[in-house]
Amino acid sequence: MVSFHTPVMLEKVLQSLRCKPGGTYVDGTLGGGGHARAILENTAPDGLLIGIDRDDDALLESEKRLQPFGQRKILIKGNFADIGEILTNLNIRKVDGILLDLGVSSHQLDTADRGFSFSLDAPLDMRMDQSSRYRQTGASAFLWMLRSICAWIRAAVTVLMISSTCLRKKS
Ligand SMILES: C[S@@+](CC[C@H](N)C(=O)[O-])C[C@H]1O[C@@H](n2cnc3c(N)ncnc32)[C@H](O)[C@@H]1O
Repeated sequence: MVSFHTPVMLEKVLQSLRCKPGGTYVDGTLGGGGHARAILENTAPDGLLIGIDRDDDALLESEKRLQPFGQRKILIKGNFADIGEILTNLNIRKVDGILLDLGVSSHQLDTADRGFSFSLDAPLDMRMDQSSRYRQTGASAFLWMLRSICAWIRAAVTVLMISSTCLRKKS
């Protein structure tokens, strides 16, 4: 079983967020819920944590780890770029802090078939949201490269055709 992210700079994060009881905090990159757990502990007994992630594995793991906090946490599958809409839908007009721990998680890197790894041999994929499809919110890296190569070939053929037409006209 591949482990989830160990939260980094935990003390600094908690200090910067100035966690307080009763506060409302957003973790826009929930991952395995390490930071979220610490925020919930530091906002006891009545703080609220909204956790957002695009990755179903991350949400499943966090749901398990944060179960003891009951109704004090709301976990949402989504993109933190849509935070405004997410909070509006929850009827939350004000928050006390937002955390974005940007990047990939250890779980994504260490799970071969997620296609993020530098060291494990597996097809390139690199979608944070595995339910997203090509041409929707995120293509796999492989399809993206394939599309880029096709675009380059089309561009090269067009340039060659234009050049040969110009040369023919000159001669
Ligand atoms: C470095 S990990 C976060 C680890 C987390 N702080 C913890 O304590 O376990 C980054 C997470 O952000 C998520 N992520 C990346 N881009 C995202 C986006 N635009 N919207 C929501 N989640 C995103 C990834 O799926 C990943 O789970």
